[in-house]
Amino acid sequence: MNYFDILDDMFKEFEEYKDIKKGKGVRGKLITIIDPKAQKLAAVVEGIHLASLLHDDVIDEADLRRGAKSINAKYGEHTAVMLGDIIYSRAFYELVDFGSEIAKTISNAVYLLSQGEMEDVKLSRDINLDKAKYMEMIYKKTASLIEASCKAAALSAGLEADKFAKYGRNIGIAFQIIDDLLDVTQDEETLGKPAMHDYYEGKTTLPFIYLFESCNDEEKEKLKSLYKKKLNNDEINYIRNLFNKYKIIDKCYKEAKDLVEEAKDEIKEYNIAALNIIADKVVDRKF
Ligand code: IPE
Ligand code: MG
Ligand code: MG
Ligand code: MG
Repeated sequence: MNYFDILDDMFKEFEEYKDIKKGKGVRGKLITIIDPKAQKLAAVVEGIHLASLLHDDVIDEADLRRGAKSINAKYGEHTAVMLGDIIYSRAFYELVDFGSEIAKTISNAVYLLSQGEMEDVKLSRDINLDKAKYMEMIYKKTASLIEASCKAAALSAGLEADKFAKYGRNIGIAFQIIDDLLDVTQDEETLGKPAMHDYYEGKTTLPFIYLFESCNDEEKEKLKSLYKKKLNNDEINYIRNLFNKYKIIDKCYKEAKDLVEEAKDEIKEYNIAALNIIADKVVDRKF
């Protein structure tokens, strides 16, 4: 059985689970490329990722996930929190069987991810223009689990865990930079989740941090007046035009691309084409 089937089998008794759409499965793909026998580990990690998204959509009050109504929107926040807990608990129960090194690697990442979510919320209280804080937060909330997935799969396959961990860390950071970029460049239909939603949620992601560094005082004031506001089309276009004017999108892309190149370099001696393809896709995607 592949990891998606194993995951579905674990939660088939839960009615609401059936309404959850499949994602890209990046973490599971990485694990099974690094260690093709590790389908179960991939299922556990995809479960953990799914649980984190159920909770994330409650925290972010997001109604849309993977192109469908989010569980919180469909069944309410209580159900989304409880189903998240059910999936987390089962995943940890299964994780024990992989031995302490792998179990600790993954569970530590969940600890970091949860801290990252908390930091994300704290940073959203006000306009944050500190790039170091943003980078630390995205490492924790997104890259830590991707890093741990690659490390755990390498441990399972008997490969150099440190190198695969660095590969995972870099593509994980790039993945979130691109997630934040797509939020401002794409529409809701393409994304399968709300567009231009981060700034409304109070998040000054990397494109906004760079935009504030570049724009003049008048533009800064206007941008500040739009912070946490439900934006109309004119306001969305105003922000998009500023991103173009100051070439912010290119700048963020380049930063993500550099991280991906570093990631590929870290494991180049292994010559695993599929891992280079995934790394490239992290940057070159539309949703
Ligand atoms: C949080 O990041 C994702 C997790 C690590 C749980 P976001 O809040 O930016 O994720 P999306 O945009 O809702 O997918
Ligand atoms: Mg979210
Ligand atoms: Mg979030
Ligand atoms: Mg996002």
